[in-house]
Amino acid sequence: MSMLSRRQFVQGGSLVAAAGLLAGCGSASSGTGSSGPAADGEYTLVSEGKLTCISNLYFPPFEFMDDKTGEPRGFDIDMSKSLAEHLGLEVNWLPSQAFDSLVPTIKAGGTADVAIAGMTITDARKAEVDMSDPYIDSNQSLVTKVGSEDTMDTLDDASKKIAVQAGTTGADWAKENFPKAEIVPLDDIISAMNGVVTGSYAALVTDLPVSSYQIKNSFSSLQIIEEIPTGEQYGIAVSKDNPGLTKAINAALAEMEEDGSLDAIETEWFGAAL
Ligand code: ARG
Repeated sequence: MSMLSRRQFVQGGSLVAAAGLLAGCGSASSGTGSSGPAADGEYTLVSEGKLTCISNLYFPPFEFMDDKTGEPRGFDIDMSKSLAEHLGLEVNWLPSQAFDSLVPTIKAGGTADVAIAGMTITDARKAEVDMSDPYIDSNQSLVTKVGSEDTMDTLDDASKKIAVQAGTTGADWAKENFPKAEIVPLDDIISAMNGVVTGSYAALVTDLPVSSYQIKNSFSSLQIIEEIPTGEQYGIAVSKDNPGLTKAINAALAEMEEDGSLDAIETEWFGAAL
């Protein structure tokens, strides 16, 4: 099994990569189609010749709906296309679903092969599904409206509402760190951002690359008041019944690292090659 180099998101649009790859993994396995038990080094797919993906498509710049085309776009979408190409497959994105339904859907099987959703690798998730090797590092952020005087201290108060996306690591962090505040779980983080702008919530907690990108591109009236170094890493969720697919994905990710595909996608979305 190979390890990807660690990638660190730094606020301000640049990504910095640490040292390179560790060698030691073979080439990607080939698919076996949708039927039959997976033999060693092979995997099953819900739809033959396709890598069927699910996500919550309200998490720019990792995944979001393009208003003009009605198609999903983002870092993870481009990454999934390259991943599928490296596996000799087509990519097929299913409609957006609630973030906290992704792991249960993959675990249940039959709907999608993978969840690609800026999903942090956690022990709790690894108990339910397999997670691929990490493909990017991330942290959390605390966001308020420009002009707000709130701080970490003043926000931990029964009168304060703090918006999060349900089932996320940001939601967990907020519950732990603001025990007195009212933590409001929402379906998506864009609603949380709109709610902070309109004053429904005093603050929100979400992944730093997402808040940075959104403030730069669409929400100039929001500000990051704390960068929270949680040291998270995103991985791809795969059913535990399909270990050959996780293995093939890890091999493909290592190839994408080596052949520059990941760098190109990072440049596209974060303005910097690693
Ligand atoms: N990284 C966080 C987590 O894994 C948030 C992910 C939210 N992703 C999304 N596509 N809405 O919990």
